[in-house]
Amino acid sequence: MAGGGLPAAAGGSEFEAKITPIVIISCIMAATGGLMFGYDIGVSGGVTSMGDFLKKFFPVVYRRTQETELDSNYCKYDNQGLQLFTSSLYLAGLTATFFASYTTRQLGRRLTMLIAGIFFIIGVILNAAAQDLAMLIIGRILLGCGVGFANQAVPLFLSEIAPTRIRGGLNILFQLNVTIGILFANLVNYGTAKIGGWGWRLSLGLAGIPAGLLTIGALMVVDTPNSLIERGKLEEGKAVLRKIRGTDNIEPEFLELVEASRIAKQVKHPFRNLLQRRNRPQLIIAMALQIFQQFTGINAIMFYAPVLFNTLGFGSDAALYSAVITGAVNVISTIVSIYTVDKLGRRVLLLEAGVQMFLAQVIIAIILGIKVKDHSDDLLKGFAIFVVIMVCTFVSAFAWSWGPLGWLIPSETFPLETRSAGQSVTVCVNLLFTFVIAQAFLSMLCHFKYGIFLFFSGWVFIMSIFVWFLVPETKNIPIEEMTERVWKQHWLWKRFMDDNVGGDIAMSGNGATKNGHVNGARSCFSVVKLEY
Ligand code: BGC
Repeated sequence: MAGGGLPAAAGGSEFEAKITPIVIISCIMAATGGLMFGYDIGVSGGVTSMGDFLKKFFPVVYRRTQETELDSNYCKYDNQGLQLFTSSLYLAGLTATFFASYTTRQLGRRLTMLIAGIFFIIGVILNAAAQDLAMLIIGRILLGCGVGFANQAVPLFLSEIAPTRIRGGLNILFQLNVTIGILFANLVNYGTAKIGGWGWRLSLGLAGIPAGLLTIGALMVVDTPNSLIERGKLEEGKAVLRKIRGTDNIEPEFLELVEASRIAKQVKHPFRNLLQRRNRPQLIIAMALQIFQQFTGINAIMFYAPVLFNTLGFGSDAALYSAVITGAVNVISTIVSIYTVDKLGRRVLLLEAGVQMFLAQVIIAIILGIKVKDHSDDLLKGFAIFVVIMVCTFVSAFAWSWGPLGWLIPSETFPLETRSAGQSVTVCVNLLFTFVIAQAFLSMLCHFKYGIFLFFSGWVFIMSIFVWFLVPETKNIPIEEMTERVWKQHWLWKRFMDDNVGGDIAMSGNGATKNGHVNGARSCFSVVKLEY
């Protein structure tokens, strides 16, 4: 998810399904939803290091960048307003997620994506035409609303439209598109920085491309059968199912969807269900993964790479150039994850990356500690290149581990009756901590100086210990067998898996299962396969 991850493949049964044109279109949807999120992540760093942008909106910061003699290198970008420009998007996004979980249910996935597209377009216009700080921040807030709606609806839309056998791959495909969006923004910034004057307007305005694509896409596609059936449009849902599966043999899946929507409607309090003891392991892991994902320090790099490289003494051109390199490494390493995640497993990737990220950050801190004094000259060229290599080492490890897995693992471990609530909490916690990092990083850089990298490396150490002891392997485990094969086998989490039935569904009669969960989830909201 980006913003949201896709609820992963589910259901023991594989229904007949072809990869039809509509499924291809849904992949393009994923690309545009992810691209938009990634573009917003990537664009702010480059823009905030452009002199003309700073001169117009943040003259105090601009003056400081010109007076390095008088000010600490590490503090020249420390400005709450500047940080608000980056972080307001995430604050708006996490608030919007609550509304989005309502609209995805009541209005459908398609309309929610359309709402997102409209927010994006208005936000882009305000940003590109901004005359003052208020216009700029309001534009960012509207983009944030778009992210909140898109990251809830697009992954859901995809997970429901995709045949089970390609659903897992689509999960990381979404993250891949986030990384492509970041790279695209970095490339655009690299070009527009040369224009000078209005270059920043072009950077902010080109977000209109993914925004427009998402809007057109939302107008073109049909809603998912799950959503149609959930809203009582049974015949329409059946027709859409036949169309997207490319076969007439859809009766078994249709019946399952109808049954799922019936059971899902019995869940009166999904958030209360989420708090029950037997859901504690998934909830703790989902929240911890989001918090830890942000405390790797990845967004310190993604948002502020150009600023960071500037701080380290690279010229502004070289700074953007380095940011483009880290963006490319991010994309390529995400592809590595797509190929390895089901072979090596989640734990291997997370633990290997932990070691790699820890070492890279400690080495960066040591070089900067020795070579960048508060008021001194630039890094020697050799050291500067070495810092870029270490940043790339760090980014690549993140991109094949915490990046995609932070979204994948929560989406494949929640049981159906709490999956929608779990997904909302996952997106919210992610955006909340993205906001915290965006808002705090430049001040932290100013106060901790090179120690910021030691700070993040400390977190990487803690999260690796967490993974070692508390994150079970979920590779190749069907989603409906998680309780029996994962949680009940874990040395700690098995204590939470008592067989006592509880919760909305479990008490509602024939929807109950032997472990109190409704199994066989196919989407956040609507599909249930019962296991007796
Ligand atoms: C994270 C984003 C991050 C991106 C970097 C995503 O998984 O949620 O916060 O910017 O990865 O590629």
